[in-house]
Amino acid sequence: MHVWAISNQKGGVGKTTTTASLAGLLTARGLRTLVVDLDPHGSLTSYFGISLESAGAGVYELFQDVAAGKPPDPTARLQSTSVEKLDLLPAVMTLATVERQAGTVEGFGLVIRQAVLRLVDHYDYVLIDSPPMLGVLMVNALAACNRLIIPVMADFLSLRGLERMQRTLAMIGRSRKQPLPFTIVPTLYDRRPKVSADSLQALKDRYGENVWGGVIPLDTKVREASQAHLPVSLYRSSCRAAKAYGDLLESLLRLDDSDSEETGLKKHGGRQEKKGMGSKRYGEQTGTLSI
Ligand SMILES: Nc1ncnc2c1ncn2[C@@H]1O[C@H](COP(=O)(O)OP(=O)(O)OP(=O)(O)O)[C@@H](O)[C@H]1O
Ligand SMILES: [Mg+2]
Repeated sequence: MHVWAISNQKGGVGKTTTTASLAGLLTARGLRTLVVDLDPHGSLTSYFGISLESAGAGVYELFQDVAAGKPPDPTARLQSTSVEKLDLLPAVMTLATVERQAGTVEGFGLVIRQAVLRLVDHYDYVLIDSPPMLGVLMVNALAACNRLIIPVMADFLSLRGLERMQRTLAMIGRSRKQPLPFTIVPTLYDRRPKVSADSLQALKDRYGENVWGGVIPLDTKVREASQAHLPVSLYRSSCRAAKAYGDLLESLLRLDDSDSEETGLKKHGGRQEKKGMGSKRYGEQTGTLSI
């Protein structure tokens, strides 16, 4: 199992869109996928047409399990979506209170990691959408994942915002006792103004190989897809954004493959899989945390 967190301390950069789009493409490859909504605003939950009020139980209850001294149990809180092979662990209204509770309850940083560890036999991929501010929910996303995807708008303000994210990554890397691999994804890219190309170049100069080679273009089909509660590739597979997300997924899967080769493990999609290894490897990869 692979766990990707989609995170950035800046708002409105395409985190939720990227989570939904990649999830749609993963399921189209026959991979069992779970999306986790760690944002109290519940945009990802709404994206899939589930209202926060009607979601019933979700991520919040996992934290309440831990507050009650029990291991977090995700299985009863999973919901299926209209997309085949795609499940959702929804946000509910009360999720916002977790940030306030965090100071008083021990072990709140690892709730999602523990929950995800219980699902290793159920999913090939888990994608975690995180809120745009650093708090216990974002820490949970970063602690649970084995790859971080950082959507970034190519403008100078966003580049500055990315420096904050780098400091957070350094902190997480120290707790994990190993650096967290990350990929920066230029999003909402407008090819017309020259400043876009300049900002993209600045991003590449500063972060080099960690910047994905493509861009996700501005595309009105993205907003239409979210209104239709569908990943963009299922809404309009031929649109520019769907194709760009397809390219992004290819390169992320290649990165996961090369990680697997290093550890002697191959997986999914025509590549052989060693069943039962996922749990061990996922746990090992995330390292020891003292959050
Ligand atoms: N490639 C794109 N082209 C056009 N619109 C886009 C694109 N990507 C995202 N959007 C739109 O931009 C807005 C912000 O995107 P999204 O909600 O994914 O960002 P976010 O980082 O999750 O925001 P937040 O920080 O509020 O959670 C949404 O209305 C979304 O539909
Ligand atoms: Mg969002």
